[in-house]
Amino acid sequence: MQLLDGKLLSENIKAEIAAEVENIRQKGGKIPHLAAVLVGENPASQVYVNSKIKSCEQVGFKSTLIQRNADVTEAELLEIVQGLNNDPDVDGFIVQLPLPKHISEEKITLAIDHRKDVDGFHPVNFGRMAQGMPAFLPATPFGIMEMLRRYNIETAGKHCVVLGRSNIVGTPMSLLLSRKGYPGDCTVTLTHSRTRDLPAEVRRADIVVAAIGIPQFVKGDWVKEGAVVVDVGINRIPDATKKSGTRLVGDVDFDEVAPKCSHITPVPGGVGLMTVTALLMNTLKACRKEIYS
Ligand code: GUN
Repeated sequence: MQLLDGKLLSENIKAEIAAEVENIRQKGGKIPHLAAVLVGENPASQVYVNSKIKSCEQVGFKSTLIQRNADVTEAELLEIVQGLNNDPDVDGFIVQLPLPKHISEEKITLAIDHRKDVDGFHPVNFGRMAQGMPAFLPATPFGIMEMLRRYNIETAGKHCVVLGRSNIVGTPMSLLLSRKGYPGDCTVTLTHSRTRDLPAEVRRADIVVAAIGIPQFVKGDWVKEGAVVVDVGINRIPDATKKSGTRLVGDVDFDEVAPKCSHITPVPGGVGLMTVTALLMNTLKACRKEIYS
């Protein structure tokens, strides 16, 4: 069994991006600039946004953090989005989800200029991705594809089972893996809460992508010998042996599943770090106008 090491890969990719930024700086070009909007006090969102801002610093990007209390109005947030759309120095920006209930995530996502949508959540980017056109790919699926590529995981003709049909992971992941080319050319099954006999579906998989948000859900006897397992889950569970009283686990029961796999992503240290790195890759693409001129 080989670990798919998100920490090592993301450090390598960040070093490549940092070298590119240095190159841009020496030529007097524009330094990539990512902005992040954080609303309210969701602790997980705070951790994710801080990690995005810190990663910008590591590679030499400019970053801007805009924070508002949970009682910000939808109109105020839309105004912030318009300001970022119109700011020529900002190459790309994200509005961290989830948003408070009184704000429509759909309205906010639609208001973001798709040319600055480095999260790849806008329907223009989603539609372009689905048709195989150049697009900002959502960060988690983009990070996973980069991981498969850099570990030379064979995908052509493989049967891939995706657990979870969210707009930001499961659904785009199923589209990307079924696309022509590498990594891709998989036969994909997209499973969800109404799927019958989920363990039987997972047992047929050469590649499993677990993105359902239930801690340690995928069990050892669900997984075929030699499968590649990608664990997207980040769940905090009680653990009396830890000083904090908790620990992070994925959607896969790692101890049961790992011995059966050819490759598996750990949690933490797997997909999560690749997500942040993919956001940096998208921001660099935005700054270089690689997707939209
Ligand atoms: N919430 C959970 N994941 C993400 C993400 O990738 N981007 C944003 N903006 N919000 C999220």
